[in-house]
Amino acid sequence: MSKIIKLTEEQQIIWNQVASLAKKEIAPKAEAIDQEEKFPREIIQKLGEMGLMGLVIDPEYGGSGLDYLTYAIVGEELNAACASTGVIFSAHNSLALGPINKFGTEEQKKKYLPEMCSGKRLGAFALSEPVSGSDAGALICKYEDKGDHFVVNGTKNFITNGPECDVVVLLATKDMELKHRGVSAFIVDRQLEGISVGKVEGKMGIKGSGTSQLIFEGVKVPKENLLGKEGDGFKIAMVTLDGGRIGIAAQALGIGRAALEAALRFSQERETFGKPVSRHQGPQFMIADMATKLEAARLLTWQAAVLQDRGEPFFKEAAMAKLFASEASNFITDKALQLHGGYGFCKEYPVERHYRDQRITEIYEGTSEVQRIVIGSAVTKEFRG
Ligand code: CAA
Repeated sequence: MSKIIKLTEEQQIIWNQVASLAKKEIAPKAEAIDQEEKFPREIIQKLGEMGLMGLVIDPEYGGSGLDYLTYAIVGEELNAACASTGVIFSAHNSLALGPINKFGTEEQKKKYLPEMCSGKRLGAFALSEPVSGSDAGALICKYEDKGDHFVVNGTKNFITNGPECDVVVLLATKDMELKHRGVSAFIVDRQLEGISVGKVEGKMGIKGSGTSQLIFEGVKVPKENLLGKEGDGFKIAMVTLDGGRIGIAAQALGIGRAALEAALRFSQERETFGKPVSRHQGPQFMIADMATKLEAARLLTWQAAVLQDRGEPFFKEAAMAKLFASEASNFITDKALQLHGGYGFCKEYPVERHYRDQRITEIYEGTSEVQRIVIGSAVTKEFRG
């Protein structure tokens, strides 16, 4: 654990509480959640009861009023136990609650936040489409202003919590010709007429979290559900993803940590050539690289979270954290599997699940290539010679 950032007593207490919950109640169920592709409803309910489904939201709106560093710590713990649970938690907190909290009116916050913070209503974020992913501004889901309401038509792709959500932060365009300036954001109640769940994806990892299309056909969205101003949607999405990327960095960190711990456990028990695998120099070098990358990933993740807590710009640091943590986690889960030998390839050991769960952290909420675009552009602009 990082020795350079001193946690407050409150942060440490919450960390201990979540670690205990993760160890006793979540990790033992992770294998079944993965194999049965089962949405962990009771666990999400429990997270709601513990105040973790509205972690940074002000208590005035039913949240716990905690900070983003605590969010990163909790994310790491949940994901170390079960990455399906981790992404449900992260998409709800960062991508759904985040923009409503930051850009919502007082009425919107009072209406939506309390039930979402309690875990009673689950949130999702609908940006990607069958034809637009990394090029987020090229979306074609359309809204029309009908005077006293908006009407939305379009299909959204790869929506985390799509099959189970109750509230969707939806991005749609008034006019594709306007590019990103035509995009607006809306808070949409899932039960509105005309919304259906399309294709539910079969995935290689995070199998307990639902990922689906959401289809909008002539959906009447009340005027008061516009989030921010018309035309602000793209920036709302970008700011939302800046925060979300800390959540995914924490996810990568949690999965990587679990894989390293699994590799340590296995390599200390298993003997080759007369001594435990872990005492050979080759495996020790692997373990050293895994542990070092994990620590660097944690420092970058915590740095981005602390900047967000201070209200300072953090988009570049969040992109760096996600890029580094997800690629570090790729390295760590791969080496952890290798250290298990043939057993690593078998479902009997959790490292096989960690290896599969990790892969998406390099893709969603902005691929590694998108993070490099964000970082490269920021670093170039900052340089003054
Ligand atoms: N904060 C505030 N404003 C921002 C911003 C940010 N982080 N990033 C860009 N903007 C603003 C720019 O300043 C610019 O403003 P002006 O119009 O005033 O000049 C405007 O937005 C357009 O910016 P760009 O020209 O840089 O936009 P672009 O079209 O070139 O795209 C991009 C940039 C970084 C590639 C962006 O499209 C992007 O992040 N793509 C990836 C999208 C993504 O992460 N998708 C994942 C969806 S969620 C998910 O994974 C599913 C899930 O449920 C988990």
